[in-house]
Formats: sequence, structure tokens, C-alpha cells
Amino acid sequence: MRQYLFPKNFWWGAATSGPQSEGDFNKSHKNIFDYWYEIEPEAFFDRVGPKVTSNFYNSYKEDLAMLKEIGLNSFRTSIQWTRFIKDLESGEPDEDGVRFYNNVIDEIIKNGMLPVMNLHHFDLPIELYEKYGGWESKHVVDLFVKFAETAFKLFSDRVKHWVTFNEPIVIVEAGYLYQFHYPKIVDGKKAVQVLYNLNLASAKVIKKFREMECDKKGGKIGIILNLTPSYPRSNNEEDLKAAEIADAMFNRSFLDPSIKGEFPKILTDILEKDKVIWEASEEELSIIKNNTIDFLGVNYYQPRRIKAKESEFDESKGWLPEKYFDFYDMPGKRMNPYRGWEIYPEGIYDIAINIKNNYNNIPWFVSENGMGVEGEEKYKNKDGIIEDDYRIDFIKEHLQNLHRGIKEGSNCFGYHLWTPIDCWSWTNAYKNRYGYISLDLRTLKKTIKKSGRWIKKVSEDNGF
Ligand code: BG6
Repeated sequence: MRQYLFPKNFWWGAATSGPQSEGDFNKSHKNIFDYWYEIEPEAFFDRVGPKVTSNFYNSYKEDLAMLKEIGLNSFRTSIQWTRFIKDLESGEPDEDGVRFYNNVIDEIIKNGMLPVMNLHHFDLPIELYEKYGGWESKHVVDLFVKFAETAFKLFSDRVKHWVTFNEPIVIVEAGYLYQFHYPKIVDGKKAVQVLYNLNLASAKVIKKFREMECDKKGGKIGIILNLTPSYPRSNNEEDLKAAEIADAMFNRSFLDPSIKGEFPKILTDILEKDKVIWEASEEELSIIKNNTIDFLGVNYYQPRRIKAKESEFDESKGWLPEKYFDFYDMPGKRMNPYRGWEIYPEGIYDIAINIKNNYNNIPWFVSENGMGVEGEEKYKNKDGIIEDDYRIDFIKEHLQNLHRGIKEGSNCFGYHLWTPIDCWSWTNAYKNRYGYISLDLRTLKKTIKKSGRWIKKVSEDNGF
């Protein structure tokens, strides 16, 4: 008997991105990761760069057939700006890019899956960074809208679920605060402008989508945010306040404008007081106000533990969000030691209830959740199949918590695992594996793991 039954037409799927799966074959431009790997290969685990990744450019037919084989009914990937657009200024498409994405979309549909197409997954063309400062520039915002327009023109007849950005806060954090991604800058003021520009870009793309009447033809558009519920160390006032500010900075800074059309006041008050507020015009703010999303994707991996500041903020690096809180290393927390992330399945329930109570119960889905594990080879059985019971348990625990949220009325319509087939991950390259399907890096052979067989049954039964 199924103990956890999910709503009708629930999305059982998985997500990847263009730069992490396709390989760089035939691309007309380089993105910031292609470039960064060229100048600093040692920054990537085992010096493995984004050149081949999972070879999806060449093997998309076989790969998508495998996704069907494990019972998935929906699949997200992203259209690479650097592959799809030939002229970045005019938005004129690249012939091979158009051919490739047309084929991919057709093949997803042919395999009975719903295509969910994302327009940006950290993969800014390097030229746009070098010429204009990338997302620091509003000109780049307008070029992104041109790229989106071309994509809507060519694919919106078949693609009905669009996403403007995947995890835009990561562009801010990794590129402008904590140096995980190129350009590895530490500059709070620039970070704040980038945060604003990304919100503006998302709203402008949504505006374009509606002007082109893609919505009238059954299309829906959303954004994917990595929500990290911010839990205070204690219930004392200082810890609560610190967690509230961290939440405004890392979650509500995109959640509120995307759904309510406005930035949280607690955040803008701080930025104004500290004189680091973004440059914005009335016209832009009204675009943000009037072009909110139809649905939300939530990537959930880990919570954020916060405490009140314990030491004086060091002003030498200029303004940083940590002026207002410290990250809290909670003793005894359950960890995924390979990725160094806390495992806290209850977080997904808290997210479900937060969306229900504070965000008009907007339709949403879990757009990424998953467990990256190093050295999975050692779990191979005699038939060569990886027995990843730890992944099955991880997914189950998260689904149980999600189910509780849905039972209490949260409007969640799907669960996508990161990722269908082991894929390349930014600086971690192929260190940690996340897939339902394993990839042999040497032969590029793909093999369904135990979790892939398991999810097929869950998808068929619409629960477990
Ligand atoms: C999400 C991203 O942050 O997490 C993916 O959308 C990423 O691109 C995934 O690969 C897992 O994180 P990582 O850093 O271990 O690859």
C-alpha cells in the first residue's frame, strides 16, 4: 500500500543544465566557466573542465530514452546563451544552436516528458563580462531579453514551461561576495547592483513573454530559487533578528520581487542606511512590480544556520551582508560529508508552509534536491549497478516532508532530482555524483543506478 500518495499529474522528473551536460562542442561563444577553466584549470577538481561534461550534445537521444526508461515525466535543462545566440548584441540565433535545441525539445516530447527550459544557469558569455561587466550592466540585462525573445519565438510553440534564471542569488554570492565562481570579486556594492539587475532581467523577460502572448498560447513562466530557510541559533532577540536579515538577503531578495513585485523593506532599509542601495529608476521598479512569475521552482539542499554577530565587523573589505549576522556552525548537525552540506529534510516542509502562508500559495515545485556522493563506484554490485540506497533514503525523507506540506495545503506540483545523469559541477567537476544514472568518465557509458529503478516505480505509483 502506498503511504505517501502525491497529487494528480505530479511532476516526477530531474534537472540538469546546458553547461553541465552538453559539452562545448560547436559553441559559438565561451561562457565564464569555459574561460575560467582556460586560465586556471587547477581551480577545478582533478583539472576536469566543461569541455565534454556528459556529452549530451552528442548523446541526447540515448540519454533522453534512458530518462523515459526510469519513468520521468518531466525534464529541465537550460538553453546556453553561448550556443544558441550567434550575435550577442542583436540576439540573432546560431544555426547549429537552433538545430540542436529544436532536436532536444522534440526528443523530450517524443519520450513523453514535459520540457522545462531555463534561460540562465550561471553561464554568462565571457565577452559580456569583459565588455560590460556582465550582470553589473543594464545593457547586459537588455541583451538577455533579446536572447529570451529569440528563444520564445523559436520554441514556445512546444515549450510551455519557461524559467528565467536558476539560482540567481548564487551569481551574487559566488561571483561578488564569496569567490566561488568567476569573476571571484569581493564587492558588496557591486553585489547589490547585480542582485537588482538580475531581478530586473527576470521581470523584463517575463514582460517580453507576455507581450509576445506566449501566455495566451498556454505558456507559463517562473524562476528557480535556491531557498535556504534561515534558522536562528536560539530564540533570543539578537539571533532572531540576525536570521531575519540573512533570510531577507539570501531568500527574500528574489522571492519577494518575483512573487510580490517588491523588495523586502528590511533589506532596502539596511542598504539605504549603509549607502549601498542599487541604482534603480521608477520605470524599472514598475516593470518589477507588474511582471511577477506564474510558478516558482525551489532548489533545496540545505538550511542556513544563523547567529547574532559575535565579533566586530571588519570594515576593511567594504560593505558585506555579514555586517548583520554570523553563520552558525550548529553542533551535531547531520552532514553530507562529501559536499559539506547539512542534511535537514524538515526544511522542505518549512518551505512549503512559508510559500503557502506568505506567498499567496503560488504553484511551485521542487526543482532541485539531491545528494552528491564521492566514490560511488564502491557501491557497484556484481552486475555493475551502483546500489545507492543512501540516495533513495535521502529522497524518501524529503518527499515525506514535502507530502506533509502538501497535505496541509501547500500548492506543490512536482519533484525534480538533481540530476538525471551524473553531470559536471562547476569547480567540483565530477567529484560528487548526483544522478539516477551513472556516467563512466572514461568510456562515457551510462548505467541506471538502483535509485533510477526505484524512482520509476514511485513515478508509476505516484507515490511510495
Ligand atoms: C545547484 C545548481 O546549486 O546545485 C547546480 O543549480 C549544481 O548547478 C547543484 O550542480 C549541486 O551543487 P554542486 O555544487 O555540488 O554541483
